[in-house]
Amino acid sequence: MKLTQADFERRRDRLAEQMGPNSIAIIETSPVAYRNRDADYKFRADSSFFYLTGFAEPEAVAVIETGESTADYTYSLFCRERNRELEIWNGYRAGVDGAVEDYEADEAFAIDLLDEEIIEKLFNKGAIYYRIGHRAEFDARVSQWIKQAQDQDKRGDGAPSQVLQLDRLLDEMRLFKSEEEIQLMQIASDISAQAHTRAMQKVHPGMKEYALEAELNYVFNQNGCVPSYNSIVGGGANACILHYVENNQPLNDGDLVLIDAACEYQCYASDITRTFPVNGRFSPEQRALYQIVLDAQYAAIDQVRVGRSYRDPHEAAVRIITQGLLQLGLMRGAIDELIEKEAYRQFYMHGTGHWLGMDVHDVGAYKVAGKWRSYAPGMVVTVEPGIYIAPDDETVDEKWRGIGIRIEDDVVVTEDGPLILTQNVVKEIDAIETLMAQAKR
Ligand code: GLY
Ligand code: MN
Ligand code: MN
Repeated sequence: MKLTQADFERRRDRLAEQMGPNSIAIIETSPVAYRNRDADYKFRADSSFFYLTGFAEPEAVAVIETGESTADYTYSLFCRERNRELEIWNGYRAGVDGAVEDYEADEAFAIDLLDEEIIEKLFNKGAIYYRIGHRAEFDARVSQWIKQAQDQDKRGDGAPSQVLQLDRLLDEMRLFKSEEEIQLMQIASDISAQAHTRAMQKVHPGMKEYALEAELNYVFNQNGCVPSYNSIVGGGANACILHYVENNQPLNDGDLVLIDAACEYQCYASDITRTFPVNGRFSPEQRALYQIVLDAQYAAIDQVRVGRSYRDPHEAAVRIITQGLLQLGLMRGAIDELIEKEAYRQFYMHGTGHWLGMDVHDVGAYKVAGKWRSYAPGMVVTVEPGIYIAPDDETVDEKWRGIGIRIEDDVVVTEDGPLILTQNVVKEIDAIETLMAQAKR
């Protein structure tokens, strides 16, 4: 399964339509990030740039210009030129010919000509769209181009008079996934589920967190994928650190381990969390807390339905977690008052999910006109409630301290109810214990 140029073209068509006539949109890919001296981080195209172009090389800018009608727009790609010597060092480049032949640009230019060519393109455009505020350097460059176009335009009415936020259009497009995009996310989720399953099978007391992370990476890499965010592998109380990524401690007998890790497939992300016992058996305290989180997650997933508010899953999760903690004696008081005062935040301090897509925390507004937006088909959201009892929390009995649990799945909003992409890794207590016991045999 691979997106085709026809898919990327359809997206450009839709963008051009929304831009209106006589407009220009300029979008650059991500800059290369240097790690130190001659070493850089492996390049990952900017999501919105890739969304429109399918072009994964660094140093590239796409330009879309509409004319009197939005249907006959021009798509230009500025990219690196072919260069025999540099290609020997750093690999293949499509070059300007490839941009036209393989990426279906109407015209292509060497990236070095951008400052020169863009001025001509700005003439006679009413509006310019770009992603304001992403990179100060690019903002400054665009401002410079607009000024230059104004200065060079002798008639005085030809340079764009409106500067508009391109993100507004692209983010909204990206929020609603097509069937093909859902298929890619399903593949990313299946590979990620396989990685979590392998982690459950391989873990044992005394193993280091990074060694367990290696088991996840093994599956990601065997499938040609990379993690969609830094993997969290936290044993015991490390699970209570929400963004724990050191992953350098031993996994102890009797502790749980929380893994929040997943990969991306063709720039489409998955995002999974599972929490399971290092020795394969939940203790009574772990079991009790885990079941509350699981019940909260089921209730929250059930709210991911067309027409429900974005916030409904969170409210469902909060109620079940508060109720569960009350029953176990970790909280005291009246449930409605505890919810009203957000007392649960001592143990559950994050939201229940976020949009998921090309970015793990994907684009798309959460509110419209100040109100939480409603779920609609094609949206994808994570559902990830948790309970975290700080190791030094003296308000609770010692036996509960240092337990951190989160369960996270990826859910598509459909007319037929919630569609879970990440169900290929178990999460029921019995199913986890059975899988782990089988692996030990
Ligand atoms: N892995 C990041 C998150 O769950 O939001
Ligand atoms: Mn998440
Ligand atoms: Mn996650």
